[in-house]
Amino acid sequence: MVNIGTRISELKLRNPTILASGILGETSGSMKRVASCGAGAIVTKSIGMKPREGYPNPTAVEIECGILNSMGLPNPGIEEFKKEIDEIDEIDIPVIGSIFGKDEKEFAFLAKKMEEYGLDAIELNLSCPHARGYGLEIGSSPDIVREVVREVKKKVSIPVFPKLSANAGDIVDIGKAAEEGGADGVVAINSLRAMKIDIHLKKPILYNRVGGYSGKGIKPVAVRCVYELSRELDIPVIGVGGVETWEDAVEYILAGACAVQIGAAVYYRGLSVFAEICEGMKRWMEENGFESIEDFRGVALK
Ligand code: SIN
Repeated sequence: MVNIGTRISELKLRNPTILASGILGETSGSMKRVASCGAGAIVTKSIGMKPREGYPNPTAVEIECGILNSMGLPNPGIEEFKKEIDEIDEIDIPVIGSIFGKDEKEFAFLAKKMEEYGLDAIELNLSCPHARGYGLEIGSSPDIVREVVREVKKKVSIPVFPKLSANAGDIVDIGKAAEEGGADGVVAINSLRAMKIDIHLKKPILYNRVGGYSGKGIKPVAVRCVYELSRELDIPVIGVGGVETWEDAVEYILAGACAVQIGAAVYYRGLSVFAEICEGMKRWMEENGFESIEDFRGVALK
């Protein structure tokens, strides 16, 4: 009998598919819908200290093999967000609170709030590829990442997962710093810094000019990062970037991931994507004689 349950630190998931941050994770209603469609866990939209409107349109555009977005971290702010969390009691899968801040104090404050609201884990969005003051200034420095994780870990007892970037420097150095800071796992990778130019208007399409590229096009980069992180770190790695099919999910797990996040594919394939990936993975495991995720996780590293 095949069991696709997985474990990320102390977090137990009934299957390895997780809703990625930024897609349907802002309201209680949308989170309930995702949970009822078979996801193993949910990551909320990234929440900051204060309400933010984000950038004017255009903030997202479909491009070759994926989506380019620069929303500008729009969110209701941590105080207002409590109302949504108060209404998700019936969700029976782990909900991971994504937070962004300008320094370790803000991250620690926000993490504590998320824990008080009853969430199951924290994802540190310290690598947004385009939000000035909240992204790569933090996520590309091993010293700052170590410090942010350390301060957050002092404040909360739920698991903490920093989301890493492949945009700058060596992701393994950043991963090691996160591990030294006490991270319970890492998420790889955030969207890639990218741009699309409208050849008729002769200028960048996005209002913010530069955005983050996600979807199928970034999968080979993300799989490489998961592979390298899994080889070098002792903590769990969660893969994200271009997971659309069960084959994609299996590839990430063979590279060492214990779970995968799904974002852009929710737009392309709808909410049935979680159940479809789980069904396909179960069939593949049966055909290959694997009874659990652990039986084939990281096999490509050997
Ligand atoms: C955004 O709100 O612009 C996206 C957030 C992110 O990529 O981290």
